Amino acid sequence: MIPSCNVHIEIIGICLLLLLGCGLINGTETDLFCLRSIKNSLKDPLNYLSSSWNFENKTEGAICRFTGVECWHPDENKVLNIKLSDMGLEGQFPLGIRNCSSLTGLDLSSNKLSGELPPDIGTIITFVTTLDLSSNGFSGTIPASLANCSYLNDLKLDNNRLSGQIPPQLGQLGRLKMFNVANNLLTGQIPSFGKNKFSADNFAHNPGLCGEPLDSCESTSKNPRVAVIVGAAVGGVLFAAIAVIIGMFFYFRRAVKMRKKDDDPEENKWARSLKSIKGTKAS
Ligand SMILES: *[C@@H]1O[C@H](CO)[C@@H](O)[C@H](O)[C@H]1NC(C)=O
Ligand SMILES: *[C@@H]1O[C@H](CO)[C@@H](O)[C@H](O)[C@H]1NC(C)=O
Ligand SMILES: *[C@@H]1O[C@H](CO)[C@@H](O)[C@H](O)[C@H]1NC(C)=O
Repeated sequence: MIPSCNVHIEIIGICLLLLLGCGLINGTETDLFCLRSIKNSLKDPLNYLSSSWNFENKTEGAICRFTGVECWHPDENKVLNIKLSDMGLEGQFPLGIRNCSSLTGLDLSSNKLSGELPPDIGTIITFVTTLDLSSNGFSGTIPASLANCSYLNDLKLDNNRLSGQIPPQLGQLGRLKMFNVANNLLTGQIPSFGKNKFSADNFAHNPGLCGEPLDSCESTSKNPRVAVIVGAAVGGVLFAAIAVIIGMFFYFRRAVKMRKKDDDPEENKWARSLKSIKGTKAS
């Protein structure tokens, strides 16, 4: 604590007051760095950020009045939520968010963001309870590291161009109450989230998703193992049918033979009884 305080005295010269003050400045500097880096990494053609995110005001809590920024306390530069929905923002997922280390919610929905999501997104926004990246142009696969965001309640990735399989690890997110990946390019098995947890709407309009709550993956015979099983089943049924036909052939042949044997005594009996009736009538 004391060496880091000395560094700040040399560099900024603000840390003359208290060790507590030094800690406070450390905490807020990283959030300032975070927002500055987000602003620098995004294209902002509608000037939402450039008109509001003014870093000239050094007063503690000034960033809490920025458009789309919510702080833990209005007079402390410690960012709680970032909500930048529908602002025409362009560019890639802003990696500077890593430095908003107390962030609990991120909403970048309905912008024109593109490119792949960072593979280590789970370490960038570890503590978020809400992540909404819906209605952008994100592509590539859904990072498995999202499974490390164990506080996630709401995860919205719908209306992007995400492809590949949904990482099975996401099934481990025990607090998820909302999960939406509709309108992407996803394929393969849906992770097991628990029965009836999310409706089919949340997975709709993807070219190749299967499994609960959609149709089971076995009905699509893309999987070679499934094809082998289906082939074996069809072969088994054919074999059984042939066996039954052969069996029936022999059964009927035997039955016909037996009937031929039985036929004569029947006829004889019939003839005899006829004769006897005729005989009684005649007498
Ligand atoms: C931003 O975060 C990175 C990675 O956690 C860290 O190394 C860096 O020191 C942070 N920058 C500031 C200004 O806090
Ligand atoms: C700087 O921010 C503080 C706190 O948000 C505010 O009260 C003050 O008016 C701002 N100063 C300027 C020059 O905008
Ligand atoms: C989660 O974090 C741990 C520790 O950092 C790491 O070993 C693991 O691979 C991560 N899980 C995923 C799915 O990325």
